[in-house]
Amino acid sequence: MSNLNSTQAIGVFDSGLGGISVVRALIDLLPHEHLIYFGDTARVPYGSKSKETVIRFAHQISSFLLEKQVKMIVVACNTASSVALESLQQKFDIPIVGMIDPGSQAAVRTSHNQRIGVIGTDSTIRSGAYRSAIRALNPDIQVMDQSCPLLVPLVEEDWPHDQVVQQVLQSYLKIFENDKPGSLILGCTHYPYLKSAIQEVIGNEVCLVDSGEAAAAEVQTVLADRGLLNPETGDPGRHKFFVSDFPQKFEETASRFLGLPLENLFKVELEVLESYK
Ligand code: DGL
Repeated sequence: MSNLNSTQAIGVFDSGLGGISVVRALIDLLPHEHLIYFGDTARVPYGSKSKETVIRFAHQISSFLLEKQVKMIVVACNTASSVALESLQQKFDIPIVGMIDPGSQAAVRTSHNQRIGVIGTDSTIRSGAYRSAIRALNPDIQVMDQSCPLLVPLVEEDWPHDQVVQQVLQSYLKIFENDKPGSLILGCTHYPYLKSAIQEVIGNEVCLVDSGEAAAAEVQTVLADRGLLNPETGDPGRHKFFVSDFPQKFEETASRFLGLPLENLFKVELEVLESYK
């Protein structure tokens, strides 16, 4: 790890568009960091795939990012963080930050009662990763979780916040109706795009925790501890975006989510990606 330096970029990856919410949080908090984003748009969604498959994809992408000389990797996907973080940390000799611990810490901090809700993909909820992380922080907290598989396609399709979204949310969030949690973890990086609709359905008394924002704060701490923060004296960070496919409207939707044009956008052929181990 000793040959890392502060001017290197941070690598960030997700199965598709969701991680753009984490890129946004990183740019807001650390505007001088260079970012290299990888969205695995050819193989999204990860949330319904097996643990073994997601681990293999996460290793391939991390190797790709490492070849781009990144100083750190942010697993901007809750599904990959839930099932692959440990094996990534064992294999790669650079700091790797996931979504689960930062999100859990923020939820424990912000819940005004002893209850925390978690929503995520099937794989994330099935892995029990948030449940274990929250219990490790405070075993007295009651964790209520719910998988919401329809939300990722609604975001990927850039579906408007209309009645359909509201009905889907009402159905998924019903389990929280009688025992409202003090905080609700948006345990999928796609969900911040539905934040206002989720807040409306669950009620203003529930604090929504965006794991991406919490992870950005963790990135800042880890880089500062290792003396790897890019000095704020130079130009703002430069960003590059890689995808494994160009789905229709990807560029338009991603740049709208990011609030910036996606100037440096490149496609990596799947065969090339699959050659990484
Ligand atoms: N954005 C990913 C996450 O945070 C999930 C999307 C998918 O299913 O691929 O879990």
